[in-house]
Amino acid sequence: MTSLRIKLWFALLFVIALVVGPALVASHAIRMVSAHFELSDASTQSLNALQRLAVLGYTVQQERFTDPSAFLEERDSYIDGVRAHVLNADRYLNNEIRLLSKTPLPPERRAAAIKEEMNQREQLQLIGTHLERALLGDGKDTQWEDYALKAISVEEREVKTTKRVATEVFEGVIWTLLGTSVFVGLLGVLGVLWAQRKMIRPLGNLWRSTQTIAEGDYTQRTPLIGTSEFRAIANSFNAMAEKIETSATAMQQANDELERAVARRTHELASTNRSLERANRLRQQFLADASHELRTPLSIMRSEAEITLRNGDASPDELRVGLNRVVRVSTLMGEIIEDMLQIARAEEPLLQTSIAPMDAAAAVQTCVEDFRRVIEADGGRITLKHPLESLTVEGDETRLKQVIRIVVDNAVCYSSDAPQVDVTVAAEEGEAVITVTDRGNGIAAEDIPHLFQRFRRGGRKGRVGEGQTLHNGQGLGLSIARSMMETMGGTISLSSRLYEGTTVSIRLPLMSNADLAHGTVS
Ligand SMILES: Nc1ncnc2c1ncn2[C@@H]1O[C@H](COP(=O)(O)OP(=O)(O)OP(=O)(O)O)[C@@H](O)[C@H]1O
Ligand SMILES: [Mg+2]
Repeated sequence: MTSLRIKLWFALLFVIALVVGPALVASHAIRMVSAHFELSDASTQSLNALQRLAVLGYTVQQERFTDPSAFLEERDSYIDGVRAHVLNADRYLNNEIRLLSKTPLPPERRAAAIKEEMNQREQLQLIGTHLERALLGDGKDTQWEDYALKAISVEEREVKTTKRVATEVFEGVIWTLLGTSVFVGLLGVLGVLWAQRKMIRPLGNLWRSTQTIAEGDYTQRTPLIGTSEFRAIANSFNAMAEKIETSATAMQQANDELERAVARRTHELASTNRSLERANRLRQQFLADASHELRTPLSIMRSEAEITLRNGDASPDELRVGLNRVVRVSTLMGEIIEDMLQIARAEEPLLQTSIAPMDAAAAVQTCVEDFRRVIEADGGRITLKHPLESLTVEGDETRLKQVIRIVVDNAVCYSSDAPQVDVTVAAEEGEAVITVTDRGNGIAAEDIPHLFQRFRRGGRKGRVGEGQTLHNGQGLGLSIARSMMETMGGTISLSSRLYEGTTVSIRLPLMSNADLAHGTVS
Protein backbone atom coordinates (compact mmCIF):
# COMPACT_ATOMS: atom_id res chain seq x y z
CA MET A 1 0.00 0.00 0.00
CA THR A 2 2.92 2.37 0.75
CA SER A 3 4.23 1.98 -2.76
CA LEU A 4 0.74 2.64 -4.14
CA ARG A 5 0.70 5.89 -2.17
CA ILE A 6 4.09 6.81 -3.64
CA LYS A 7 2.80 5.98 -7.12
CA LEU A 8 -0.24 8.17 -6.58
CA TRP A 9 2.00 11.04 -5.42
CA PHE A 10 4.13 10.55 -8.54
CA ALA A 11 0.99 10.55 -10.69
CA LEU A 12 -0.09 13.82 -9.05
CA LEU A 13 3.35 15.39 -9.60
CA PHE A 14 3.27 14.18 -13.19
CA VAL A 15 -0.05 15.93 -13.74
CA ILE A 16 1.27 19.12 -12.10
CA ALA A 17 4.41 18.95 -14.28
CA LEU A 18 2.20 18.50 -17.36
CA VAL A 19 0.39 21.74 -16.53
CA VAL A 20 3.15 23.85 -14.97
CA GLY A 21 6.03 22.81 -17.31
CA PRO A 22 4.52 24.10 -20.54
CA ALA A 23 3.41 27.28 -18.73
CA LEU A 24 6.98 27.94 -17.57
CA VAL A 25 8.36 27.20 -21.03
CA ALA A 26 5.80 29.56 -22.60
CA SER A 27 6.49 32.40 -20.17
CA HIS A 28 10.26 32.05 -20.68
CA ALA A 29 9.76 32.02 -24.45
CA ILE A 30 7.55 35.11 -24.32
CA ARG A 31 10.14 36.94 -22.21
CA MET A 32 12.89 35.97 -24.66
CA VAL A 33 10.90 37.06 -27.71
CA SER A 34 9.90 40.37 -26.13
CA ALA A 35 13.55 41.06 -25.09
CA HIS A 36 14.74 40.52 -28.67
CA PHE A 37 11.99 42.69 -30.12
CA GLU A 38 12.76 45.39 -27.51
CA LEU A 39 16.42 45.26 -28.51
CA SER A 40 15.42 45.51 -32.14
CA ASP A 41 13.22 48.54 -31.36
CA ALA A 42 16.04 50.17 -29.38
CA SER A 43 18.39 49.62 -32.32
CA THR A 44 15.88 51.26 -34.67
CA GLN A 45 15.50 54.22 -32.32
CA SER A 46 19.32 54.64 -32.19
CA LEU A 47 19.40 54.56 -36.00
CA ASN A 48 16.64 57.14 -36.21
CA ALA A 49 18.48 59.40 -33.73
CA LEU A 50 21.72 59.13 -35.77
CA GLN A 51 19.83 59.83 -38.98
CA ARG A 52 18.10 62.87 -37.44
CA LEU A 53 21.49 64.16 -36.27
CA ALA A 54 22.90 63.74 -39.78
CA VAL A 55 19.85 65.48 -41.30
CA LEU A 56 20.30 68.40 -38.89
CA GLY A 57 23.99 68.69 -39.86
CA TYR A 58 23.18 68.73 -43.59
CA THR A 59 20.32 71.20 -43.12
CA VAL A 60 22.42 73.65 -41.10
CA GLN A 61 25.34 73.44 -43.57
CA GLN A 62 22.90 74.05 -46.40
CA GLU A 63 21.60 77.15 -44.69
CA ARG A 64 25.14 78.50 -44.22
CA PHE A 65 25.49 78.69 -47.98
CA THR A 66 21.93 79.79 -48.82
CA ASP A 67 21.40 82.40 -46.06
CA PRO A 68 24.74 83.10 -44.28
CA SER A 69 23.38 85.98 -42.19
CA ALA A 70 20.49 83.95 -40.83
CA PHE A 71 22.89 81.09 -40.21
CA LEU A 72 25.15 83.31 -38.23
CA GLU A 73 22.23 84.54 -36.26
CA GLU A 74 20.99 81.07 -35.43
CA ARG A 75 24.38 79.32 -35.16
CA ASP A 76 24.32 79.09 -31.38
CA SER A 77 20.87 77.55 -31.36
CA TYR A 78 22.02 75.15 -34.10
CA ILE A 79 24.92 74.13 -31.95
CA ASP A 80 22.52 73.56 -29.05
CA GLY A 81 20.34 71.46 -31.35
CA VAL A 82 23.33 69.39 -32.39
CA ARG A 83 24.29 68.83 -28.77
CA ALA A 84 20.71 67.86 -27.89
CA HIS A 85 20.58 65.37 -30.80
CA VAL A 86 23.94 63.91 -29.78
CA LEU A 87 22.69 63.53 -26.24
CA ASN A 88 19.49 61.94 -27.47
CA ALA A 89 21.28 59.48 -29.73
CA ASP A 90 23.71 58.64 -26.94
CA ARG A 91 20.77 57.89 -24.62
CA TYR A 92 19.37 55.48 -27.21
CA LEU A 93 22.73 53.81 -27.70
CA ASN A 94 23.16 53.55 -23.96
CA ASN A 95 19.67 51.99 -23.70
CA GLU A 96 20.70 49.56 -26.40
CA ILE A 97 23.75 48.55 -24.35
CA ARG A 98 21.55 48.06 -21.27
CA LEU A 99 19.17 45.83 -23.22
CA LEU A 100 22.07 43.87 -24.71
CA SER A 101 23.33 43.05 -21.23
CA LYS A 102 20.00 41.43 -20.23
CA THR A 103 18.91 39.91 -23.56
CA PRO A 104 19.60 36.14 -23.65
CA LEU A 105 22.49 35.87 -26.13
CA PRO A 106 25.58 33.75 -26.46
CA PRO A 107 28.25 35.43 -24.29
CA GLU A 108 30.72 36.09 -27.18
CA ARG A 109 28.02 37.59 -29.29
CA ARG A 110 26.77 39.69 -26.42
CA ALA A 111 30.36 40.95 -25.76
CA ALA A 112 30.92 41.75 -29.46
CA ALA A 113 27.58 43.58 -29.69
CA ILE A 114 28.25 45.64 -26.56
CA LYS A 115 31.71 46.48 -27.86
CA GLU A 116 30.23 47.63 -31.16
CA GLU A 117 27.69 49.84 -29.35
CA MET A 118 30.51 51.38 -27.32
CA ASN A 119 32.27 52.18 -30.65
CA GLN A 120 29.04 53.72 -31.92
CA ARG A 121 28.93 55.99 -28.87
CA GLU A 122 32.51 57.06 -29.57
CA GLN A 123 31.60 57.65 -33.21
CA LEU A 124 28.62 59.70 -32.02
CA GLN A 125 30.89 61.91 -29.91
CA LEU A 126 33.22 62.40 -32.90
CA ILE A 127 30.22 63.32 -35.10
CA GLY A 128 29.12 65.89 -32.51
CA THR A 129 32.61 67.35 -32.02
CA HIS A 130 33.35 67.63 -35.75
CA LEU A 131 29.87 68.98 -36.58
CA GLU A 132 30.22 71.67 -33.93
CA ARG A 133 33.67 72.48 -35.26
CA ALA A 134 32.31 72.75 -38.80
CA LEU A 135 29.51 75.08 -37.67
CA LEU A 136 31.94 77.29 -35.81
CA GLY A 137 34.48 77.21 -38.68
CA ASP A 138 34.19 78.09 -42.28
CA GLY A 139 32.17 75.08 -43.13
CA LYS A 140 34.82 73.26 -45.04
CA ASP A 141 35.39 70.58 -42.44
CA THR A 142 33.23 67.64 -43.57
CA GLN A 143 34.83 65.06 -41.35
CA TRP A 144 31.62 64.69 -39.35
CA GLU A 145 29.88 63.37 -42.49
CA ASP A 146 32.24 60.40 -42.73
CA TYR A 147 31.68 59.58 -39.08
CA ALA A 148 27.95 59.98 -39.47
CA LEU A 149 27.69 57.79 -42.58
CA LYS A 150 29.80 55.12 -40.96
CA ALA A 151 27.78 55.16 -37.71
CA ILE A 152 24.49 55.08 -39.66
CA SER A 153 25.61 52.17 -41.81
CA VAL A 154 26.77 50.25 -38.69
CA GLU A 155 23.49 50.97 -36.97
CA GLU A 156 21.51 49.93 -40.08
CA ARG A 157 23.36 46.63 -40.07
CA GLU A 158 22.61 46.22 -36.37
CA VAL A 159 18.93 46.96 -36.90
CA LYS A 160 18.79 44.27 -39.61
CA THR A 161 20.66 41.82 -37.40
CA THR A 162 18.48 42.38 -34.32
CA LYS A 163 15.28 42.12 -36.40
CA ARG A 164 16.45 38.91 -38.02
CA VAL A 165 17.49 37.46 -34.66
CA ALA A 166 14.18 38.50 -33.06
CA THR A 167 12.25 36.88 -35.90
CA GLU A 168 14.38 33.74 -35.65
CA VAL A 169 13.84 33.60 -31.88
CA PHE A 170 10.11 34.12 -32.35
CA GLU A 171 9.87 31.26 -34.85
CA GLY A 172 12.07 29.07 -32.65
CA VAL A 173 9.78 29.79 -29.71
CA ILE A 174 6.69 28.95 -31.78
CA TRP A 175 8.21 25.63 -32.82
CA THR A 176 9.38 24.93 -29.30
CA LEU A 177 5.91 25.62 -27.93
CA LEU A 178 4.36 23.42 -30.59
CA GLY A 179 6.86 20.67 -29.84
CA THR A 180 6.25 21.06 -26.11
CA SER A 181 2.48 20.87 -26.62
CA VAL A 182 2.80 17.71 -28.70
CA PHE A 183 5.22 16.21 -26.18
CA VAL A 184 2.98 17.09 -23.23
CA GLY A 185 -0.06 15.77 -25.11
CA LEU A 186 1.74 12.51 -25.81
CA LEU A 187 2.84 12.27 -22.19
CA GLY A 188 -0.76 12.92 -21.08
CA VAL A 189 -2.08 10.21 -23.40
CA LEU A 190 0.59 7.79 -22.15
CA GLY A 191 -0.30 8.68 -18.55
CA VAL A 192 -4.01 8.08 -19.16
CA LEU A 193 -3.22 4.77 -20.90
CA TRP A 194 -1.01 3.73 -18.00
CA ALA A 195 -3.69 4.65 -15.43
CA GLN A 196 -6.33 2.87 -17.53
CA ARG A 197 -4.22 -0.28 -17.82
CA LYS A 198 -2.75 -0.36 -14.35
CA MET A 199 -5.50 1.05 -12.17
CA ILE A 200 -8.88 1.71 -13.80
CA ARG A 201 -9.26 -1.65 -15.59
CA PRO A 202 -8.28 -3.78 -12.53
CA LEU A 203 -10.57 -1.64 -10.38
CA GLY A 204 -13.44 -2.19 -12.84
CA ASN A 205 -12.78 -5.95 -12.88
CA LEU A 206 -12.74 -6.03 -9.10
CA TRP A 207 -16.00 -4.10 -8.91
CA ARG A 208 -17.71 -6.41 -11.43
CA SER A 209 -16.48 -9.50 -9.55
CA THR A 210 -17.82 -8.22 -6.22
CA GLN A 211 -21.17 -7.47 -7.89
CA THR A 212 -21.35 -11.00 -9.34
CA ILE A 213 -20.49 -12.57 -5.98
CA ALA A 214 -23.06 -10.36 -4.25
CA GLU A 215 -25.64 -11.77 -6.70
CA GLY A 216 -24.75 -15.30 -5.54
CA ASP A 217 -22.39 -16.52 -8.27
CA TYR A 218 -19.40 -17.67 -6.21
CA THR A 219 -17.50 -19.08 -9.20
CA GLN A 220 -16.47 -15.56 -10.26
CA ARG A 221 -12.71 -14.75 -10.19
CA THR A 222 -10.95 -11.50 -11.04
CA PRO A 223 -7.88 -11.44 -13.37
CA LEU A 224 -4.50 -10.63 -11.81
CA ILE A 225 -3.66 -7.42 -13.69
CA GLY A 226 -2.59 -3.87 -12.89
CA THR A 227 0.01 -2.64 -10.45
CA SER A 228 1.46 -4.97 -7.83
CA GLU A 229 -1.03 -3.59 -5.28
CA PHE A 230 -4.02 -4.34 -7.50
CA ARG A 231 -2.64 -7.79 -8.24
CA ALA A 232 -2.30 -8.40 -4.49
CA ILE A 233 -5.89 -7.20 -3.90
CA ALA A 234 -7.16 -9.40 -6.78
CA ASN A 235 -5.23 -12.34 -5.33
CA SER A 236 -6.77 -11.85 -1.88
CA PHE A 237 -10.19 -11.38 -3.46
CA ASN A 238 -9.86 -14.64 -5.42
CA ALA A 239 -8.75 -16.51 -2.29
CA MET A 240 -11.76 -15.11 -0.42
CA ALA A 241 -14.11 -16.06 -3.31
CA GLU A 242 -12.59 -19.57 -3.30
CA LYS A 243 -13.34 -19.93 0.42
CA ILE A 244 -16.86 -18.60 0.02
CA GLU A 245 -17.48 -20.97 -2.89
CA THR A 246 -16.13 -23.95 -0.92
CA SER A 247 -18.28 -23.19 2.11
CA ALA A 248 -21.33 -22.42 -0.05
CA THR A 249 -20.89 -25.74 -1.85
CA ALA A 250 -20.44 -27.57 1.45
CA MET A 251 -23.50 -25.82 2.85
CA GLN A 252 -25.50 -26.67 -0.27
CA GLN A 253 -24.38 -30.31 -0.04
CA ALA A 254 -25.28 -30.42 3.65
CA ASN A 255 -28.66 -28.87 2.83
CA ASP A 256 -29.26 -31.36 0.02
CA GLU A 257 -28.21 -34.22 2.29
CA LEU A 258 -30.50 -32.91 5.04
CA GLU A 259 -33.37 -32.54 2.61
CA ARG A 260 -32.78 -36.07 1.30
CA ALA A 261 -32.61 -37.41 4.87
CA VAL A 262 -35.79 -35.54 5.82
CA ALA A 263 -37.53 -36.80 2.66
CA ARG A 264 -36.30 -40.36 3.39
CA ARG A 265 -37.40 -40.13 6.99
CA THR A 266 -40.76 -38.61 5.98
CA HIS A 267 -41.23 -41.40 3.48
CA GLU A 268 -40.33 -44.01 6.10
CA LEU A 269 -42.65 -42.38 8.63
CA ALA A 270 -45.46 -42.20 6.09
CA SER A 271 -44.92 -45.82 5.16
CA THR A 272 -44.79 -46.84 8.86
CA ASN A 273 -47.87 -44.78 9.44
CA ARG A 274 -49.65 -46.44 6.55
CA SER A 275 -48.77 -49.91 7.75
CA LEU A 276 -49.78 -48.99 11.30
CA GLU A 277 -53.07 -47.62 10.03
CA ARG A 278 -53.56 -50.72 7.91
CA ALA A 279 -52.69 -52.98 10.84
CA ASN A 280 -55.06 -51.04 13.05
CA ARG A 281 -57.82 -51.20 10.44
CA LEU A 282 -57.29 -54.91 9.95
CA ARG A 283 -57.22 -55.48 13.67
CA GLN A 284 -60.47 -53.55 14.14
CA GLN A 285 -61.96 -55.41 11.21
CA PHE A 286 -60.88 -58.72 12.62
CA LEU A 287 -62.21 -57.85 16.06
CA ALA A 288 -65.59 -57.01 14.57
CA ASP A 289 -65.53 -60.15 12.42
CA ALA A 290 -64.48 -62.37 15.30
CA SER A 291 -67.19 -60.96 17.57
CA HIS A 292 -69.66 -61.62 14.81
CA GLU A 293 -68.39 -65.17 14.42
CA LEU A 294 -68.62 -65.82 18.15
CA ARG A 295 -72.19 -64.68 18.31
CA THR A 296 -73.75 -67.50 16.18
CA PRO A 297 -72.10 -70.47 17.98
CA LEU A 298 -72.85 -68.81 21.30
CA SER A 299 -76.54 -68.50 20.47
CA ILE A 300 -76.55 -72.15 19.27
CA MET A 301 -74.93 -73.24 22.55
CA ARG A 302 -77.38 -71.23 24.60
CA SER A 303 -80.39 -72.55 22.67
CA GLU A 304 -79.07 -76.10 22.93
CA ALA A 305 -78.68 -75.79 26.71
CA GLU A 306 -82.08 -74.15 27.14
CA ILE A 307 -83.84 -76.85 25.11
CA THR A 308 -82.08 -79.59 27.04
CA LEU A 309 -83.00 -77.98 30.35
CA ARG A 310 -86.63 -77.60 29.28
CA ASN A 311 -86.86 -81.25 28.29
CA GLY A 312 -86.96 -82.86 31.75
CA ASP A 313 -87.67 -86.32 30.28
CA ALA A 314 -84.59 -86.39 28.08
CA SER A 315 -82.94 -89.80 27.88
CA PRO A 316 -79.18 -90.10 28.56
CA ASP A 317 -78.60 -90.60 24.79
CA GLU A 318 -80.52 -87.44 23.97
CA LEU A 319 -78.56 -85.59 26.62
CA ARG A 320 -75.27 -86.94 25.20
CA VAL A 321 -76.22 -85.81 21.67
CA GLY A 322 -77.09 -82.33 22.97
CA LEU A 323 -73.91 -82.06 25.02
CA ASN A 324 -71.83 -83.27 22.02
CA ARG A 325 -73.27 -80.39 20.02
CA VAL A 326 -72.35 -77.99 22.77
CA VAL A 327 -68.80 -79.43 22.79
CA ARG A 328 -68.53 -79.15 18.98
CA VAL A 329 -69.76 -75.61 18.93
CA SER A 330 -67.53 -74.62 21.88
CA THR A 331 -64.57 -76.21 20.02
CA LEU A 332 -65.42 -73.97 17.07
CA MET A 333 -65.51 -70.98 19.41
CA GLY A 334 -62.12 -72.06 20.80
CA GLU A 335 -60.73 -72.01 17.25
CA ILE A 336 -62.13 -68.54 16.65
CA ILE A 337 -60.61 -67.32 19.92
CA GLU A 338 -57.26 -68.91 18.93
CA ASP A 339 -57.46 -66.96 15.65
CA MET A 340 -58.06 -63.79 17.61
CA LEU A 341 -55.02 -64.41 19.81
CA GLN A 342 -52.77 -65.12 16.83
CA ILE A 343 -53.91 -62.02 15.06
CA ALA A 344 -53.57 -59.88 18.19
CA ARG A 345 -49.89 -60.97 18.36
CA ALA A 346 -49.20 -60.59 14.66
CA GLU A 347 -47.57 -57.42 13.21
CA GLU A 348 -49.85 -57.54 10.20
CA PRO A 349 -53.12 -59.15 11.18
CA LEU A 350 -54.35 -61.42 8.40
CA LEU A 351 -56.82 -64.21 8.60
CA GLN A 352 -54.91 -67.45 8.35
CA THR A 353 -56.40 -70.15 6.19
CA SER A 354 -55.03 -73.63 5.72
CA ILE A 355 -56.28 -75.11 2.46
CA ALA A 356 -56.48 -78.88 2.51
CA PRO A 357 -58.67 -81.65 1.10
CA MET A 358 -61.86 -81.75 3.13
CA ASP A 359 -65.30 -83.25 2.99
CA ALA A 360 -67.79 -80.51 2.08
CA ALA A 361 -70.77 -82.87 2.51
CA ALA A 362 -69.76 -83.64 6.11
CA ALA A 363 -69.27 -79.95 6.90
CA VAL A 364 -72.76 -79.13 5.54
CA GLN A 365 -74.22 -82.04 7.50
CA THR A 366 -72.63 -80.84 10.76
CA CYS A 367 -73.86 -77.25 10.35
CA VAL A 368 -77.41 -78.38 9.53
CA GLU A 369 -77.37 -80.53 12.65
CA ASP A 370 -76.09 -77.67 14.77
CA PHE A 371 -79.02 -75.47 13.70
CA ARG A 372 -81.69 -78.16 13.60
CA ARG A 373 -82.68 -78.13 17.29
CA VAL A 374 -82.60 -74.34 17.47
CA ILE A 375 -84.79 -73.92 14.36
CA GLU A 376 -87.19 -76.68 15.30
CA ALA A 377 -87.58 -75.25 18.80
CA ASP A 378 -88.64 -72.11 17.00
CA GLY A 379 -91.34 -73.98 15.09
CA GLY A 380 -89.34 -74.03 11.88
CA ARG A 381 -87.46 -76.68 10.03
CA ILE A 382 -84.14 -77.18 8.29
CA THR A 383 -83.77 -79.91 5.71
CA LEU A 384 -80.63 -81.28 4.03
CA LYS A 385 -81.87 -82.44 0.66
CA HIS A 386 -80.14 -85.26 -1.26
CA PRO A 387 -77.33 -85.74 1.28
CA LEU A 388 -74.07 -87.09 -0.17
CA GLU A 389 -71.76 -89.51 1.54
CA SER A 390 -68.79 -87.30 0.84
CA LEU A 391 -67.65 -84.57 -1.52
CA THR A 392 -63.94 -83.72 -1.34
CA VAL A 393 -62.98 -80.12 -1.99
CA GLU A 394 -59.91 -77.95 -1.49
CA GLY A 395 -60.72 -75.71 1.41
CA ASP A 396 -60.46 -74.81 5.05
CA GLU A 397 -63.02 -76.76 7.04
CA THR A 398 -63.40 -74.24 9.85
CA ARG A 399 -63.90 -71.36 7.41
CA LEU A 400 -66.37 -73.26 5.24
CA LYS A 401 -68.45 -74.10 8.30
CA GLN A 402 -68.34 -70.43 9.35
CA VAL A 403 -69.61 -69.40 5.91
CA ILE A 404 -72.48 -71.96 6.04
CA ARG A 405 -73.42 -70.81 9.55
CA ILE A 406 -73.48 -67.13 8.43
CA VAL A 407 -75.82 -67.99 5.57
CA VAL A 408 -78.13 -70.24 7.65
CA ASP A 409 -78.15 -67.64 10.44
CA ASN A 410 -79.38 -65.02 7.93
CA ALA A 411 -82.03 -67.47 6.63
CA VAL A 412 -83.30 -67.82 10.21
CA CYS A 413 -83.06 -64.16 11.14
CA TYR A 414 -84.77 -62.81 8.05
CA SER A 415 -87.83 -65.14 8.11
CA SER A 416 -90.84 -63.43 9.68
CA ASP A 417 -92.59 -66.76 10.21
CA ALA A 418 -91.07 -70.00 11.43
CA PRO A 419 -87.99 -70.46 9.28
CA GLN A 420 -88.18 -72.97 6.42
CA VAL A 421 -84.65 -73.71 5.31
CA ASP A 422 -83.57 -76.13 2.59
CA VAL A 423 -79.90 -76.99 2.19
CA THR A 424 -78.40 -78.88 -0.76
CA VAL A 425 -74.93 -80.02 -1.61
CA ALA A 426 -73.99 -81.27 -5.07
CA ALA A 427 -71.11 -81.56 -7.55
CA GLU A 428 -71.47 -79.38 -10.67
CA GLU A 429 -68.85 -78.92 -13.40
CA GLY A 430 -65.82 -79.48 -11.17
CA GLU A 431 -67.26 -77.54 -8.24
CA ALA A 432 -69.01 -78.41 -5.03
CA VAL A 433 -72.20 -76.27 -4.87
CA ILE A 434 -73.89 -75.73 -1.52
CA THR A 435 -77.23 -73.87 -1.58
CA VAL A 436 -79.22 -72.53 1.36
CA THR A 437 -82.82 -71.55 0.48
CA ASP A 438 -85.37 -69.97 2.76
CA ARG A 439 -88.94 -68.77 2.36
CA GLY A 440 -88.37 -65.69 4.41
CA ASN A 441 -88.67 -61.95 3.80
CA GLY A 442 -86.59 -61.86 0.66
CA ILE A 443 -84.55 -58.85 -0.41
CA ALA A 444 -85.41 -55.83 -2.58
CA ALA A 445 -83.65 -56.02 -5.97
CA GLU A 446 -81.91 -52.66 -5.49
CA ASP A 447 -80.31 -53.86 -2.20
CA ILE A 448 -78.82 -57.09 -3.57
CA PRO A 449 -75.70 -55.62 -5.31
CA HIS A 450 -74.48 -54.00 -2.03
CA LEU A 451 -75.06 -56.77 0.50
CA PHE A 452 -71.55 -58.22 0.28
CA GLN A 453 -69.99 -54.90 1.30
CA ARG A 454 -69.07 -54.39 4.93
CA PHE A 455 -71.70 -52.70 7.07
CA ARG A 456 -74.29 -52.71 4.29
CA ARG A 457 -77.73 -54.06 5.16
CA GLY A 458 -81.01 -54.59 3.32
CA GLY A 459 -83.98 -52.27 3.69
CA ARG A 460 -86.13 -54.62 5.79
CA LYS A 461 -85.59 -55.61 9.35
CA GLY A 462 -85.46 -59.23 10.54
CA ARG A 463 -88.42 -61.00 12.06
CA VAL A 464 -89.49 -60.85 15.68
CA GLY A 465 -89.90 -64.42 16.81
CA GLU A 466 -90.43 -66.27 19.99
CA GLY A 467 -87.47 -65.79 22.34
CA GLN A 468 -85.79 -63.40 19.85
CA THR A 469 -85.58 -59.72 19.55
CA LEU A 470 -85.64 -57.77 16.32
CA HIS A 471 -82.40 -58.72 14.54
CA ASN A 472 -80.24 -55.70 14.47
CA GLY A 473 -77.20 -57.00 12.62
CA GLN A 474 -74.10 -55.03 11.77
CA GLY A 475 -74.04 -55.82 8.06
CA LEU A 476 -70.88 -57.92 8.41
CA GLY A 477 -71.94 -61.54 7.85
CA LEU A 478 -72.02 -61.69 4.03
CA SER A 479 -68.81 -59.62 3.64
CA ILE A 480 -66.97 -62.00 6.01
CA ALA A 481 -68.37 -64.97 4.09
CA ARG A 482 -67.22 -63.57 0.75
CA SER A 483 -63.69 -62.80 1.99
CA MET A 484 -63.41 -66.33 3.44
CA MET A 485 -64.60 -67.87 0.18
CA GLU A 486 -62.10 -65.83 -1.77
CA THR A 487 -59.19 -66.96 0.42
CA MET A 488 -60.25 -70.55 -0.32
CA GLY A 489 -60.56 -69.89 -4.07
CA GLY A 490 -64.35 -70.23 -4.01
CA THR A 491 -67.34 -67.92 -4.53
CA ILE A 492 -70.57 -66.99 -2.84
CA SER A 493 -73.62 -65.48 -4.58
CA LEU A 494 -77.16 -64.57 -3.65
CA SER A 495 -80.50 -64.41 -5.45
CA SER A 496 -83.73 -63.30 -3.85
CA ARG A 497 -87.28 -62.16 -4.44
CA LEU A 498 -88.96 -59.83 -2.00
CA TYR A 499 -91.50 -61.61 0.26
CA GLU A 500 -90.75 -64.97 -1.42
CA GLY A 501 -87.35 -66.05 -0.18
CA THR A 502 -83.66 -66.12 -0.75
CA THR A 503 -81.13 -68.61 -2.11
CA VAL A 504 -77.44 -68.34 -1.36
CA SER A 505 -74.98 -70.46 -3.41
CA ILE A 506 -71.54 -71.36 -2.11
CA ARG A 507 -69.05 -72.84 -4.59
CA LEU A 508 -65.66 -74.45 -4.00
CA PRO A 509 -63.38 -76.25 -6.48
CA LEU A 510 -63.62 -80.02 -6.27
CA MET A 511 -60.43 -82.07 -5.85
CA SER A 512 -59.50 -83.52 -9.25
CA ASN A 513 -59.19 -87.28 -9.55
CA ALA A 514 -55.44 -86.95 -10.12
CA ASP A 515 -55.08 -84.84 -6.98
CA LEU A 516 -57.20 -87.32 -5.09
CA ALA A 517 -54.95 -90.13 -6.30
CA HIS A 518 -51.81 -88.28 -5.20
CA GLY A 519 -53.41 -86.74 -2.13
CA THR A 520 -52.12 -83.25 -3.12
CA VAL A 521 -53.64 -79.83 -3.29
CA SER A 522 -52.94 -77.42 -6.16
N1 LIG B 1 -81.67 -64.96 3.83
C1 LIG B 1 -81.87 -63.63 3.83
N2 LIG B 1 -83.17 -63.17 3.73
C2 LIG B 1 -83.42 -61.84 3.73
N3 LIG B 1 -82.51 -60.88 3.82
C3 LIG B 1 -81.21 -61.30 3.90
C4 LIG B 1 -80.85 -62.66 3.93
N4 LIG B 1 -79.49 -62.76 4.02
C5 LIG B 1 -79.04 -61.47 4.07
N5 LIG B 1 -80.05 -60.61 4.00
C6 LIG B 1 -79.97 -59.13 3.95
O1 LIG B 1 -78.63 -58.84 3.73
C7 LIG B 1 -78.15 -57.94 4.73
C8 LIG B 1 -76.67 -58.23 5.00
O2 LIG B 1 -76.55 -59.44 5.64
P1 LIG B 1 -75.31 -59.68 6.58
O3 LIG B 1 -75.37 -61.03 7.09
O4 LIG B 1 -74.13 -59.28 5.83
O5 LIG B 1 -75.52 -58.60 7.71
P2 LIG B 1 -76.61 -58.63 8.85
O6 LIG B 1 -77.24 -59.90 8.91
O7 LIG B 1 -77.46 -57.44 8.65
O8 LIG B 1 -75.73 -58.35 10.13
P3 LIG B 1 -74.74 -59.41 10.82
O9 LIG B 1 -74.75 -60.61 10.02
O10 LIG B 1 -73.45 -58.66 10.82
O11 LIG B 1 -75.29 -59.58 12.15
C9 LIG B 1 -79.03 -58.15 5.86
O12 LIG B 1 -79.14 -57.00 6.67
C10 LIG B 1 -80.35 -58.47 5.22
O13 LIG B 1 -81.06 -57.32 4.94
MG1 LIG C 1 -76.22 -61.82 9.09
